[in-house]
Amino acid sequence: MLKGRKITVGVTGGIAAYKAADIVSWLKQQGAVVRVAMTEGATHFITPLVMKTLSGNAVGCDIMTEDDAFHVPHIDLAECELFLIVPATANLLAKAAHGLADDLLSAALLATKAPVLCAPAMHSNMYQHPATQANLSLLRDRGWQMIEPGFGRLACGAVGQGRLADVETIKEAVCAFFAQSQLLAGKKVLVTGGPTYEYIDPVRFIGNRSSGRMGLAVAEAARDAGADVVFVLGPSALPDAAGMRTIHVVSAAEMYDAVWAEYTDADIVVMAAAVADYRPAERAAQKQKKGGDETLQLVRTVDILQSLGEHKEGRFLTGVAAETADIATYAADKLRRKNLDLIIANDVAQPGAGFDVETNIVTAVWPEAAAEGGLAMEQWPLLSKREVAARIIRMIAERMKMNDKK
Ligand code: CTP
Repeated sequence: MLKGRKITVGVTGGIAAYKAADIVSWLKQQGAVVRVAMTEGATHFITPLVMKTLSGNAVGCDIMTEDDAFHVPHIDLAECELFLIVPATANLLAKAAHGLADDLLSAALLATKAPVLCAPAMHSNMYQHPATQANLSLLRDRGWQMIEPGFGRLACGAVGQGRLADVETIKEAVCAFFAQSQLLAGKKVLVTGGPTYEYIDPVRFIGNRSSGRMGLAVAEAARDAGADVVFVLGPSALPDAAGMRTIHVVSAAEMYDAVWAEYTDADIVVMAAAVADYRPAERAAQKQKKGGDETLQLVRTVDILQSLGEHKEGRFLTGVAAETADIATYAADKLRRKNLDLIIANDVAQPGAGFDVETNIVTAVWPEAAAEGGLAMEQWPLLSKREVAARIIRMIAERMKMNDKK
């Protein structure tokens, strides 16, 4: 699974640095292409020569190095499929959280587009300090995956949380990362996100508060699971994400056309867009003046997801529904009505869920013959939208496997 994988291992100055040698040796034995970046502190605990011998590659310690093995050292090291940090000190976490780049490792971390897997290790007081916890939380929200430190005897003899996770746990996390990165390999995933705007006249429209962040998080999670992703996005301030095709649309009718144009060869659809259910019957060519006809005539838009459900032919369809009451009942009704395989319902009335926040609280509902009423349901706790998205992708992969077995 690791054969040929490009992995950069960052090593910082903690007593656990010597354990990074085991990991580097193991990665190399698994066939990975391993390069190591060490902080100055790390070199006091373990020599670059050890890492060079075990990895089979020149080791980066100095951003100003003139070693011919590097072209631009921090950029060379940033280019990898996985950036693993073993161990990560409190100082490294603080620098990465705040974008400092004053040595080779922190600069490479600022330059990398690769996912980061990070194993912190430090004294428990430093680990529990609100500053470190805030930095960890910032980095997690940016997508860093943490391999939590263990509880036990620390270097100073005290007992507490902060010691580097077991080497076996770190190896498992690396394997799980690459397994997850293959979950949807070879699949085309069509994701929608954002609101739609239904214009009344050239300056006014009917819209909604959707930011597109939940859709983007799902599209990114699908991309990170190895899928070919098309993201159809309504009007939104979000920048286009790397590694996927983004199609910008404005109205429900445009979204319908864009989705149908991509549907034929899609394997999975996740409709996270908040599509308007009504549009003005007519769009006025000129800005409307007050004092005229004060009634706005509305007509229904097409239900995009329902139209897909009527031509499903083996595709996996997922709906995302915002509700403010009776979540489960409405979700179950939409699941049946739209012929879906999964619906993710969120209670936008709860604090921490909904439109302008980075978190969400959702209930997943899917058809399950053996379950009561033919439906199974799982409530997830308050999670970042990124984590909700990763779970949605894992659940889709699992459900598809189950459907294939039937
Ligand atoms: N949806 C769609 N086209 C529409 C309306 C909704 O494809 N015209 C999709 C949404 O993207 C979402 C799912 O249907 O995945 C559920 O959307 P929601 O607005 O919650 O449901 P509605 O069917 O519109 O029901 P209601 O607004 O009455 O709750």
